[in-house]
Amino acid sequence: MQIGIDQLAFYTPKTYLDLVDLAHARGEEPDKYRIGIGQSEQAVIPVTQDAVTLAANAAVRVVDDTNRDKIAMVLFGTESGIDNSKSAAIYLKRLLKLPDNIRAVEIKQACYGATAGVQFAHDYVRLHPDKQVLVIGADIARYGLKTPGEVTQGGGAVALTISAEPKLLNLDDATAFRSEDIMDFWRPLYRTEALVDGRFSENVYVDFFKAVWQDYQQQTKLTIGDFTAFAFHLPFTKMGLKGLRAILPEASEDQQKQLMTNFEASRQYNRQVGNLYTGSLYLSLRSLFDNADLKPRQRIGLFSYGSGAEGEFFSGTISDAFDVQASRRWFTDFFRSRQRLTMTQYERLFSQQLPDHDVLLDLSHDDARFVLTGIKHDQRQYLDRG
Ligand code: HMG
Repeated sequence: MQIGIDQLAFYTPKTYLDLVDLAHARGEEPDKYRIGIGQSEQAVIPVTQDAVTLAANAAVRVVDDTNRDKIAMVLFGTESGIDNSKSAAIYLKRLLKLPDNIRAVEIKQACYGATAGVQFAHDYVRLHPDKQVLVIGADIARYGLKTPGEVTQGGGAVALTISAEPKLLNLDDATAFRSEDIMDFWRPLYRTEALVDGRFSENVYVDFFKAVWQDYQQQTKLTIGDFTAFAFHLPFTKMGLKGLRAILPEASEDQQKQLMTNFEASRQYNRQVGNLYTGSLYLSLRSLFDNADLKPRQRIGLFSYGSGAEGEFFSGTISDAFDVQASRRWFTDFFRSRQRLTMTQYERLFSQQLPDHDVLLDLSHDDARFVLTGIKHDQRQYLDRG
C-alpha cells in the first residue's frame, strides 16, 4: 500500500510588494535581492487574514463532500498561533464544517511544524488506510521594517491531504531527522516579529541538511543518482540553492544539470511569495510539481528545516495518477490577479496590528472567502463568505 500526498493547495492574499521597489527604498542593489537572496516579490498579509483564515482559504480547496467524512485528523503546523491555549485547528475545523468525531491539534517547531504533521499523518494512515489526514502549514513571516530580514518576509498557507494510494507523491518510509537546541531564530511570546542571527541560521540550515542527508543515505543505501529533484524549505530561494550546492558534487555532470533545472522549477512560486515558514517546503514542492517535467515513479528528496532547530530529510516517488493541469491554471490566474503595493501602502499594511480590545475590521480590501472580521469579548470573529 502506498501512502502520501493526495492533494496540495496553497493560498496567500493578492497584495504583494515588488522587491525592486523595496531595494530602492532601502538603498540596496536590486540584484542583491533578486540574485543574492533569490527573491522577486513578497506577499503582504492584511490584518484581516491570520493563520486560521489563511489555512481555511487553502484547505477549502482540498476538502469537499467527497472526502469530508474520511478526514480523521487536522494537524495544523504554525508558528503564528493566535492563542496560547486553544489550537488553530479547532477554529479551522469549524470553518471547514468538518465532523466533530475528529482530532484537531496545533504543532509548533518553527518551520518544521507541517512536516511533523505530514510524518504523523503518514504513520496514522498506515494504521487506518480508509482515513485521510488534513495537514496545514500556515504562517506570516515578519522581521520588521528596515531590518536585514525584511526582504525574506512573506506569508500564506498550504493544505495537504495525506491518504492511501495518493494522487501526487508516494512517501517512502525511510526518513532521517535531527533536533538540537540552537538559538538561530526565535520569537519570544511578547514579540510580533522574529529575532534572528541571520548568517548563523544559514550555516545551521546547511549543517543540518548535510547531517540528515548523510544519515538518510546510510539508512537507505540510496545516493544522489537515485533522485530526479530535491525540494527544500525556502526561507528565501538562495537558501535552497546553498543546500543543493552542498551535495551537488556527488552527482554526475548530466545529473547536476537536471537537478539544477528542477531546482529552478521548485523555486518559481516561492520567489514570488517569500517565506511562509511552515508552508515553504510544500509550496516549493507544488512549484516543482507544476513547473518541472516529472514522470511517475521518479524520486524526489525533501528537506524540511525549522530553526531552533529541527531538520528532516525524507523522500517520495511521483504517483501514477500524477496530474498538475488544474494547479498550473490556478497559479497562472492567481499571479495574474495580484495587486502590487506601493512602499507606502506596504508599510501601512505591515504596521496594522490587531488591538487587544474589541474591534471591527474594514473588510473592503480583502476579497478572500474566509476573513477575520474583528475581535469581540476577546474572541476572534471569522466570516465565511462562501
Ligand atoms: P544581509 O546581511 O542583508 O545580506 O542578510 P548579505 O549581505 O549576507 O547578502 C546576501 C547575499 O546577497 C550574499 O550572497 C551577497 O554576496 C549577495 P551569499 O554570500 O549569501 O551567497 N549580494 C549580491 N548578489 C548579487 N548582486 C549584488 C549583491 N549584493 C549582495 N549586488 C540574510 C541576508 C538572509 C541573513 C537576512 O535576510 C536574514 O537574516 N533573513 C532571515 C533569516 C533566514 O531566512 N535564515 C535562513 C535559514 S533559517 C530558516 O530557514 C528558518 C526560518 O525559515 C524560520 C523558521 O524556521 O521558522 C527563517
